[in-house]
Amino acid sequence: MAAFEEKKLPSDAPVSAKALNWVDARFPLSSSWKAHLSEYYAPKNFNFWYAFGSLALLVLVIQIVTGIFLVMHYKPDATLAFASVEYIMRDVPWGWLVRYMHSTGASAFFIVVYLHMARGLMYGSYRKPRELVWLFGVGIFLCLMGEAFFGYLLPWGQMSYWGAQVIVNLFGAIPFIGPDLSLWIRGDYVVSDATLNRFFAFHVIAIPLVLIGLVVAHIIALHEVGSSNPDGVEIKEKTDANGIPLDGIPFHPYYSVHDIFAVSIFLLVFSAVIFFAPEMGGYFLEYNNFLPADSLKTPLHIAPVWYFTPFYSILRATTADFMVWLIAGVAAYVALLILKSRLNKMSKLIAAVIGIAVVAGMLVLDAKFWGVVLMGVSVMILAGMPWLDHSPVKSIRYRPGWHKYIYILFGIAFVVLGYLGVEPPSPIGNAISQICTFVYFGFFLLMPWWSGMGQFKPVPDRVTYHPH
Ligand code: HEM
Repeated sequence: MAAFEEKKLPSDAPVSAKALNWVDARFPLSSSWKAHLSEYYAPKNFNFWYAFGSLALLVLVIQIVTGIFLVMHYKPDATLAFASVEYIMRDVPWGWLVRYMHSTGASAFFIVVYLHMARGLMYGSYRKPRELVWLFGVGIFLCLMGEAFFGYLLPWGQMSYWGAQVIVNLFGAIPFIGPDLSLWIRGDYVVSDATLNRFFAFHVIAIPLVLIGLVVAHIIALHEVGSSNPDGVEIKEKTDANGIPLDGIPFHPYYSVHDIFAVSIFLLVFSAVIFFAPEMGGYFLEYNNFLPADSLKTPLHIAPVWYFTPFYSILRATTADFMVWLIAGVAAYVALLILKSRLNKMSKLIAAVIGIAVVAGMLVLDAKFWGVVLMGVSVMILAGMPWLDHSPVKSIRYRPGWHKYIYILFGIAFVVLGYLGVEPPSPIGNAISQICTFVYFGFFLLMPWWSGMGQFKPVPDRVTYHPH
């Protein structure tokens, strides 16, 4: 370990310089500022898609700060919870603003994070060497879903109650342990005060702690390898005599200003929603949730909040009739792996065994169970992206033109699934969500083949940049 050393400053140096010097000898303050801001070199060709990471950070801070104020007045007790939220809305000074900021913030979080992930998909941000940045991101996304799910029970409205009931019951579909597992999660035979208390604990402390840890890891991993850019060119490969990337500019002040601009636009839209449409037509705050939870009155139509519905639609699409198509899909995929993949003999054998086990399971176990599995896999499959994409280039800019249509088709399937998930079930809606489920999984599972096909454009040596 190096001996303790403090820089010698002239005795007439300003007090601020002396104080900073004192801190720097004991804590890496200036060096962290330099490493992560003033001397963190980011590619000079970022476009607006690169602002969503900072916006996600901002929304995280908004959620934590407004959450703290809400907890000061909220009561996690089944007999008091609903009324305490009404009290916040009507009697606590500025309580309505804090609550609307938090409820709108939940939807804003998902909008920002979905756009942030879409950027990752388009520009291949998950590719080597950023696999861990992406994996931490997927962990963040899982936490975010958990956080939103647990938080939604807290107002103890009809939708809170019945939404939690439906989702916790899903675990009951797992063979052998299912019923005991859902009982264990609820802490009771139905969603009750015990459930509310534990969901509160997860929402206010357990998940936020993990979330913050993952966000820190996400940014540390990113700063270790450096940011990518819309061209997918690694700027660290071309540096000047001092080792500074030729196409890099210091994050601060260039991108701090860029991000402050994005923050202003975001806050304009965010405030407009809070002040003029906080319920957003029932999408951000569902109308049924303005009624207190009643265990004797099931709402006619129970639907999760919009940000869960693409995955919820996949669950609902998995009906008993659909199982035939799923079995055909699994069989065809295993055949494709065996006949047309670069896997070695052993891996092909393993794929065949897993395929047979899955088909056997599909024949024996209930469709409801497979719906739960597909819903889980539809999120977890994101973690496979760095290894599923075999394209020789990162960015969509240099991929064959037709790849764009695949991304567009995937985007449409995702949005249609989302839309159908908020609507009551119907035969036609179900058929469409089944087609979209195939498109959704096809996008990922067939990626090792389609991502390498077609005529790729040459990637430039240096980033393309047009000053404006
Ligand atoms: C609380 C949520 C999140 C926060 C606060 C956050 C924050 C950030 C920040 C500040 C950046 C750098 C700026 C930028 O490139 O936009 C970044 C980059 C990145 N994020 Fe996130 N992120 C979050 C969620 C996610 C999720 C859910 C994923 C994917 C599943 C993800 C994947 C990535 C990737 C791959 C990069 C590197 C981009 C590149 O260099 O091209 N992030 N994130």
